[in-house]
Amino acid sequence: MTGSRPTVNGRRAAQDPAPGQCLRTYLRQVGRLDVKKGCDSGDCGACTVLVDGEARHSCVYPAARAAGREVTTAAGLGTPEQPHPVQEAFVACAAFQCGFCTPGYVVTTAALAQRGDLPTSDRAEEVDRLFKGNLCRCTGYRSIRDAIDRVARAEVAPRRPASATPPAAAPTTSVGASVRAPAAWRVACGQEPFTMDVADDPAHPEAATLHLAVLTSPHPHARITAVDTAAAEALPGVRLVLTHHDAPDVLFSTARHASRLDDPDDTRILDDVVRFAGQRVAAVVAETLAVAEAACSLVEVTYDVLPAVLDPEAARAPQAPLVHGEKSTMRSRIAEPMRNVAAQTHGEVGDVRAGLAAAVHRVGGEWRSTRVSHAALETHGARAWLDAPLAEGGRLVVRTSTQVPFLVRDELAHLFALDPTQVRVVAARVGGGFGGKQEMLVEDLVSLAVLRLAQRGVDRPVQWELTREQQFTLVPSRHPMRVRVELGADADGVLTAMTVDVLSDTGAYGNHAAGVLFHGVHESVALYRCANKRVDGEAVYTHTVPAGAFRGYGLGQVVLAIESAVDELARAAGLSPAEVRRRNVVVPGDELVVNGPADTDLLFGSYGLDQCLDLVEDALAADDGLPSPGPDWLLGEGLASSMIATIPPRGHHASATVSLLDAALHGPAAGVVEIGVGSAEFGNGSATVHVQLVAEALGIDPGRVRLRSSDTDATAYDTGAYGSTGSVVAGGAVLAAAHDLCRRLGDGAEERPLVGTGEHHGSPRSVAFNVHGVRVAVHPATGELRVLRSVHAADAGVVLNPEQLRGQVEGGVAQGYGSALQEEVRVVDGHVTTRALRGYRMPQAADVPTTEVLLADTVDSLGPHGAKSMSEAPYNPVAAAVANAVRDATGVRPHELPMTRDRLWRLLHDPGHQEPTTHDLTRSTHGR
Ligand code: FES
Repeated sequence: MTGSRPTVNGRRAAQDPAPGQCLRTYLRQVGRLDVKKGCDSGDCGACTVLVDGEARHSCVYPAARAAGREVTTAAGLGTPEQPHPVQEAFVACAAFQCGFCTPGYVVTTAALAQRGDLPTSDRAEEVDRLFKGNLCRCTGYRSIRDAIDRVARAEVAPRRPASATPPAAAPTTSVGASVRAPAAWRVACGQEPFTMDVADDPAHPEAATLHLAVLTSPHPHARITAVDTAAAEALPGVRLVLTHHDAPDVLFSTARHASRLDDPDDTRILDDVVRFAGQRVAAVVAETLAVAEAACSLVEVTYDVLPAVLDPEAARAPQAPLVHGEKSTMRSRIAEPMRNVAAQTHGEVGDVRAGLAAAVHRVGGEWRSTRVSHAALETHGARAWLDAPLAEGGRLVVRTSTQVPFLVRDELAHLFALDPTQVRVVAARVGGGFGGKQEMLVEDLVSLAVLRLAQRGVDRPVQWELTREQQFTLVPSRHPMRVRVELGADADGVLTAMTVDVLSDTGAYGNHAAGVLFHGVHESVALYRCANKRVDGEAVYTHTVPAGAFRGYGLGQVVLAIESAVDELARAAGLSPAEVRRRNVVVPGDELVVNGPADTDLLFGSYGLDQCLDLVEDALAADDGLPSPGPDWLLGEGLASSMIATIPPRGHHASATVSLLDAALHGPAAGVVEIGVGSAEFGNGSATVHVQLVAEALGIDPGRVRLRSSDTDATAYDTGAYGSTGSVVAGGAVLAAAHDLCRRLGDGAEERPLVGTGEHHGSPRSVAFNVHGVRVAVHPATGELRVLRSVHAADAGVVLNPEQLRGQVEGGVAQGYGSALQEEVRVVDGHVTTRALRGYRMPQAADVPTTEVLLADTVDSLGPHGAKSMSEAPYNPVAAAVANAVRDATGVRPHELPMTRDRLWRLLHDPGHQEPTTHDLTRSTHGR
């Protein structure tokens, strides 16, 4: 029945589609792993393929309809040796970071170009409309627009002739050059494997991968009193059903840090108490995903439904239902389990009461932020197996989408009472992380399944890949926060007192609760020089989906409040937004103080905040020639600043090797140099930077450097890629290893491979600065907001890779606009109601303005070649800058994110609207 099969990339497919199968699942089943799974609803475009030359979202296209048709994927358009012109354009413009969206973009662009329907950038709105079915979470879209424009302006041939010139070689300069990513051609041509891009060997069906699905809780809070798995186990194809009876009685945290003691032990792999609607209750492992899902519906669970607390303010009240009341502070490291407080900080320096009493100007207010999803296009997923029986020296191997392979390895060993040497964790290229993959969310359950199957004599890999819906209902989001700020200042606008009070909602579990709270109030408060400061913060449990690590790690929420209050102070004191900051921000020589003794390892390795303020102020003052949308629009400008430590506190370690594998380093017999480094590449660009650092140190072409990374077998311990450490910490270790190799060569060592080793221990740390400026237009009759000008100045030290740095800034700023204006995971009565990217309103290209990226000229004394990290930082000041611009335009200050159209309209028109307010307290308190 080959007539029921399509032709895929020029070859008749080897098998028929299954009844009801979508084309994406079918194509991946027949080996076309360049067709990505980002959603199941036709929203993201990562699965786009050509069907008879037309671009189609294969996740919503029935496989049966492709029968007898020509299907072309990105890999069918071209190869790294013989790329399609569209693939060349995406590589030339560095139009990707993680690259998970890239095959879909390439195919869509090729289809439009082939039809002659691809507009050039002067018809930007049309370009954005044509590509609204393709989402990118990493880039901020500018580089993708550049690639599309490059194709649109070129004579696009369908396929480069085989005899044509191969792609240009990578540039030979290293540090300071826009060296392309080592995987660039493979990404653009659909050949770079991500976590789930592994196919079973059809010659060994007995070793075929089993699939895991989970049954989740319908209740925000309940005790499981009985579970009947008989019907599920009886379903043909089911191999294992897991409940809390099968899970080790060990508490852990899904958050991963260098020290596992940083987070409370409050989580079990499967628990007999569920604390949020959507928490996993049971898992089924079966021959197919469909059978596993069907069997989940046959598991009968009896719940004793318990009262739930859904509001963080109510959670601290006496008599509130307790989320982890049965746990002890001593064993679980929960700050106050009987008050639902997971973590807290309270402290004062100086005399705040006196500072406020002495103030001429006093302003204050309350700001709120909401849940935001990472929305990485690659969902969480892992695949685990035993490489031999454990009793025979075998190891548990986990291939997973993680930013922290070593930390996952160590926690799996802890959970299952294994030695870390009995566990190997491998990450392929990660399809976007943004902090979300600093959690261990799937690896524990697939490992439990593999180990329990092995006890039954079944030796099969098990995989679990989250759906997009589970990314909203099961995966931690950004912490929603309520932040109160009060500032006092003298007649010149110089701060005399500062108070910050934060309430952070960590949801049902305390993963990252303490870290996000402490970081959120740290650099945001330490940015300001003020003798009298008080900071109170508590992260509280509620019976809602947990919050976790996310780009900025709490700073964005607190920066919104402080930078809004500082803007209000500028108005009270009659100063410009830049000038009030110049008078109050820390400068080299100041201590970085929050509410206690200053960190001793946090230093000014360089200082570029003054330049950033000048750059943004000058850029906003310049006439950009952009007209107002119309006479009935209100125009305003705003800026906000932020500071961030370049390395997380309390330890971040990296080890690396740089090996000359064969022959000589230079000359006609020159050989290959291999980097071994533990950190993962997830779109942060660390792989490129590591190659550049080695090429520069050894004086060789980057093309001669290859990378072995994110594998716990590849090198010694590495804490992982979070906290923007890929360039500074792992990069520092790689650079040290390259220097060690040079030294050994200089000593005349002749053995091959010759291995240089290096380490970095994450201290002392420097600080980086960002200032975002924006000009907006607000339509008062509708609440619509348009960004007319977007300017971002970054103090990144010496720029190692200009194109890559620009992309990181643009991507972070784009996520900032998403949080500021449209993204929100809605929770109603404890149930997440946002279940698809469409309803979530993740920014499309049309939603993201082009940002002018400006750079301070500084050289950091601590970073490699003078560089600082710049992955998280650009996100932090964006929402505050937009809020300040809205205040400037309308005279009314927003206090709640996201500043959606209806929320802005209510702010301007609805007198009964309960948005928190800013207070100018001067009159009521002055002269007390
Ligand atoms: Fe587009 Fe990561 S590069 S989603």
